[in-house]
This record gives sequence, structure tokens and C-alpha cells, in this order.
Amino acid sequence: MAEATSHGIGPIVLLGAPGSGKGTQAKQIVARYHIPQISTGDLLRDHVQRGTPLGALVKDVMARGQLVSDDLMYDMVAQRLRQADCDPGFILDGFPRTPAQAGWLDAFFEHEFFDNATRGRCLPIVIQIDVDYNELLHRLSGRRSCPVCGRIYNVYSQPPRVADRCEVDGSPLVTRDDDREEVIRERLTAYELQTKPVAAYYASKGRLVSVNGDLPVDEVTEQVFKAIESHPAVAADQN
Ligand code: AP5
Repeated sequence: MAEATSHGIGPIVLLGAPGSGKGTQAKQIVARYHIPQISTGDLLRDHVQRGTPLGALVKDVMARGQLVSDDLMYDMVAQRLRQADCDPGFILDGFPRTPAQAGWLDAFFEHEFFDNATRGRCLPIVIQIDVDYNELLHRLSGRRSCPVCGRIYNVYSQPPRVADRCEVDGSPLVTRDDDREEVIRERLTAYELQTKPVAAYYASKGRLVSVNGDLPVDEVTEQVFKAIESHPAVAADQN
């Protein structure tokens, strides 16, 4: 597949359950299209770690595996999307997660992107990664990540070459606090009840592309790149 420039990519929204591979695929998109990954989970964990007022408000909610309230998300996301590195496009990983957030995002694009000549007019490419429930449990219980560079591993499917060490910088790998079994189940329930309707929201507008996330990482990536490059806005830009 031809290397695409970042010019015509625009925003990309990755939807999917906890453990479906949003972060894993976002990193592949970053490497290919050179646009930033905006993970709301990472932004929130950073607030918790730095002990900011927002971090203090969300810490317990996240530890229980529940969703942070919509109102607390908007300022944080808006501030990040207004940064200059987002001008050529960006990947939203973990947002929107409720129909209200999806509506807020559409309004944000309308006001801040469509009225801003430098950012073009395209709506986000929305990609849903579908994965079987039992596979999600298996993946989350085996996930390890590097606290320094953010690379994601899995003890079952993508182990590091040296056990428990990052292949990039040698840091000891960590398990996320919310990857404990009782919290995983709570996160999957929150997904079923609150986030699944977001896919329906985009599907009803004819803007949802689904990929089979049960396949090996490279094969999922191939489907994701295909979804991006066959999107009308991107295909037109490349012609
Ligand atoms: P967040 O950090 O967004 O977590 P999540 O949605 O639960 O998603 P994960 O990061 O767990 O999974 P992923 O889909 O990225 O999978 P990954 O690529 O790591 O959110 C955390 C919390 O923050 C929420 O619970 C909530 O409290 C709060 N929050 C965040 N955003 C919010 C919002 N918008 N509104 C309200 N609250 C919000 O892969 C998982 C594992 O599987 C890895 O080990 C990986 O190596 C492996 N893997 C990936 N793909 C494959 C494959 N194809 N085959 C085999 N293994 C694979």
C-alpha cells in the first residue's frame, strides 16, 4: 500500500471495547501517517499521576472501572485538540465514549474546524474494532506496558523478547491498575451500557467502518489502513 502523506488524513476516531486494540492500532497509525494519538485514558492517567485537581476528581472513578463524567472530559479534550500538532489530523483513542460526547465532538468540529481554514472540512473517519468478549478478558489480563515509551505488550500474544522488559528502552514493564479482573468486568459493563450506543450514533449517520479485531495485530492494521485510505476525503486528496 502506498505511503500516504499526513496532509489529507484529518481526524480519526477509534471505537472499541477495553482491550480491543485501540492503543495498539493507534500506534501503527502514528507510525504511518505521522499524526498524534490522543488517548483520553493516557491524558487522565497523567492527571492522576501529577496530582492535578482533575486527577483528584477522576482517580477513584477510574480505579473502579467506571466512566469519568462527560463534563470533566470536554475541557481536557478541547485543550488538547487545539494544539498545533493536531492541525494535519489526529487519532482519538477512547473518545467519544457516550452519545453525549459524540454530539459534543460533532459540535466541536463544526465550530473549531469547519470555521478554521487551516484545518479543512472533513469529518472524522470512525473505525470500530470488533473483538469477542472472552478474547477481551484474555487480552486485558495479559497486557503489560512500558511506563517510559508507552509501548504495549501482551504476555500471551506479544511478549517482549526479554521477560518483563521493554524492547525499546529496557524499562521494567507494568500492569495497569485497572487491569485487575474485577475492574476489567466493570469496564466491559460500562462499555456495553454507555459506549456501544456511540457506534450506533455514527452508524445511523453512515459514518462507521467496522474491522474484525479478533485477527492478529498486523491483519487488523491492514484493515485499518484500508479503511483510512478508502475514505472519500483521503482518496480524493491522494488523486
Ligand atoms: P482507556 O485507557 O481508554 O482504556 P480502555 O478503553 O479501557 O482501553 P484499553 O486501553 O484498555 O484497551 P485498548 O483498546 O487500547 O487495547 P490495547 O491496544 O491496549 O480508559 C481508561 C479509563 O479512563 C476508563 O475506564 C475511564 O475511567 C476513563 N476514560 C477514558 N476515556 C474516557 C472518556 N472518553 N469518557 C469517560 N471516561 C474515560 O490492547 C489490549 C491488549 O491486547 C494488549 O496487551 C495488546 O498487546 C493486545 N492486543 C491488541 N491487539 C491484539 C490483537 N489483534 N491480537 C492479540 N492481542 C492484541
